[in-house]
Amino acid sequence: MKRGYPESLSSSLGPPQSRFKHNPQGDAQFPEDESTKIFARKVADHYSARTNQTLEEREASPIIHLKKLNNWIKSVLIQLYARKGDAVLDLACGKGGDLIKWDKAKVEYYVGVDIAEGSMEDCRTRYNGDADHHQRRKKFTFPARLLCGDCFEVRLDKVLANDAPFDICSCQFAMHYSWSTEARARRALANVSALLRPGGTFIGTMPDANVIIKKLREAEGMAFGNSVYWIQFDEEFSDKKFKSSSPFGIKYKFHLEDAVDCPEWIVPFHLFKSLAEEYGFELVFVKNSHEFVHEYMKRPEFIELMRRLGALGDGNRDQTTLSPEEWEVAYLYLAFVLKKRGQPEWTQANSRKDKGQMQISKEDILYISSDV
Ligand SMILES: C[S@@+](CC[C@H](N)C(=O)[O-])C[C@H]1O[C@@H](n2cnc3c(N)ncnc32)[C@H](O)[C@@H]1O
Repeated sequence: MKRGYPESLSSSLGPPQSRFKHNPQGDAQFPEDESTKIFARKVADHYSARTNQTLEEREASPIIHLKKLNNWIKSVLIQLYARKGDAVLDLACGKGGDLIKWDKAKVEYYVGVDIAEGSMEDCRTRYNGDADHHQRRKKFTFPARLLCGDCFEVRLDKVLANDAPFDICSCQFAMHYSWSTEARARRALANVSALLRPGGTFIGTMPDANVIIKKLREAEGMAFGNSVYWIQFDEEFSDKKFKSSSPFGIKYKFHLEDAVDCPEWIVPFHLFKSLAEEYGFELVFVKNSHEFVHEYMKRPEFIELMRRLGALGDGNRDQTTLSPEEWEVAYLYLAFVLKKRGQPEWTQANSRKDKGQMQISKEDILYISSDV
């Protein structure tokens, strides 16, 4: 039994080896219906409406230590898997909160894509160095491109044909927005697979379906949570059973204080892994956030990083630390690393330098629709 989860939960979502039928439409066409688009828009509008916080507002957040912990997890993933000179594809990049992490990893080219127009604008200003409340810093050393569109619907392989191949793709706290339909989940993985070079790495974080379903089954009704979050499932799932034959579209409402308030979808990880294998990936590891913290807090460099980021407080100026409620939210997530099969090829790092820009204007953001 892996990761300490009850066997019954994993098996209730289907046998670990289950394989998907081939999409009858073939890989070239993943049709979408209107309700899927409406939900994608809902998610986009939610994130778009979230304005940048001042440093003071951020520090006053009821989940400030959780935010810092999540930043630590993403930083560790990036430090473990990004190499100097890499070309990075940041899917669902949000406000560009990971730009500094990529800069520290000395990457050479960055492409960020997100569906939320407001977040893309914040990402642009952060990249340009115009609006970084967090720290006054010198400009980023890598050229970048920003695209606004639905990563789980658009043929990114076409849009980014001249930017590929990428060495590493990151999708942080967002992959679950692709599991509303099989078509979207496939498009997400098809996009990543088409754009990564052989031997390239796909890193990410997303909700841990095993934990969420375990908590749902332990709850009296269809909702559970604590003072900083709640999750609510619709009555259609009142038997709390989830067939492995229909693993897409298992929707719940997620509320996290000062962060999230929108529909999300369960991603049974063993099925995500099987689907990813169809697109040429192999699993390097998957770890619940608790396990991830315990494992990497054994390494001095990551203990030091944790101290600097202050997720557990700094024990000095900041006497506060991650609350039990925030630690419970951390348990709702997992981190994964996939590798694209094949032998690494030599990429000409220098040629990337003229692809992106060092200063991005509003007009430079490319708005992409599903027609491409
Ligand atoms: C929780 S935020 C994470 C942002 C960023 N990855 C980070 O870790 O800071 C989720 C992000 O996913 C984006 N997103 C959701 N659905 C998307 C889609 N279909 N295509 C592109 N971005 C999407 C949202 O706009 C939002 O910026």
